[in-house]
Amino acid sequence: MDTNVQKRRENKKSLRVKVISLGNAEVGKSCIIKRYCEKRFVPKYLATIGIDYGVTKVQVRDREIKVNIFDMAGHPFFYEVRNEFYKDSQGVILVYDVGLRESFDALDSWLTEMKQEMGSQVNMENIIFIVCANKVPLVFKYLLCELWMRVRGDFGYVLTYNSFHLTTLFCFLKNDCSLFIMCPPPQAFFSSITDMCENGGKRPTPEVNVGFTKEQADTIRRIRNSKDSWDMLGVKPGATREEVNKAYRKLAVLLHPDKCVAPGSEDAFKSVVNARTSLLKNIK
Ligand code: GTP
Ligand code: MG
Repeated sequence: MDTNVQKRRENKKSLRVKVISLGNAEVGKSCIIKRYCEKRFVPKYLATIGIDYGVTKVQVRDREIKVNIFDMAGHPFFYEVRNEFYKDSQGVILVYDVGLRESFDALDSWLTEMKQEMGSQVNMENIIFIVCANKVPLVFKYLLCELWMRVRGDFGYVLTYNSFHLTTLFCFLKNDCSLFIMCPPPQAFFSSITDMCENGGKRPTPEVNVGFTKEQADTIRRIRNSKDSWDMLGVKPGATREEVNKAYRKLAVLLHPDKCVAPGSEDAFKSVVNARTSLLKNIK
């Protein structure tokens, strides 16, 4: 085969991605990364000075993914060094120590630092996150992590793509280095990063056909929250019969139960009918 064609094919198949680790000092970031990239564990604490680097390869579908992991120092003292390395990250491993509540609470401030350093033009939705609950016995490690994910759910980017399950793959058993869980590669984490790269750096929109439009869902929500019949129909208080009927017809077409399968459409439709009836009673 033509060597150029072969090279082009190989280039298409291989991909380089940048992942960073974040979390307080001594939570175990470097250990996790060394364990993952070099298959070894370092029981002695050697604080990372500014930044450390790990590299590994994973296979996602037919592509070889070269993963460059930038292991950040957690100590505040090294802020000036690590702040240079946030840029262009595609994946983030957030680490906390389950025995240290403050390291868990600090996850938010790590996200804040990251957002600040990456700049407002960067869309955090297009970065894949996993949270690693470290230094915990297996039976407990789900709890806090899951809680945190739920609380942070409003961000949308945290641990969608089922990344939560990956956290367990990284964790070690407490105080017993000989009892390491044999970590399989956190496949879904890297698959998500690969999907994003293949989609031009944006998180692909899941192809879910929900059967109703955003306008229908928004209108149902608006009707539920309306303060009176005028508000429900979306007309000003004192509107004419024609205005009320026009608004009603529009909503009836949008929300008629025969046409709209959005949850709550039937109740919303009934409310709109009642609102129109009560308004028309009082308008000459
Ligand atoms: P900085 O580089 O200062 O930000 O710290 P770090 O988060 O990289 O911590 P590091 O990986 O160096 O680990 C800190 C200490 O925790 C070391 O003494 C490790 O041996 C220990 N450690 C890491 N993971 C585990 C674990 O799962 N269980 C236990 N018991 N100790 C761990
Ligand atoms: Mg370190």
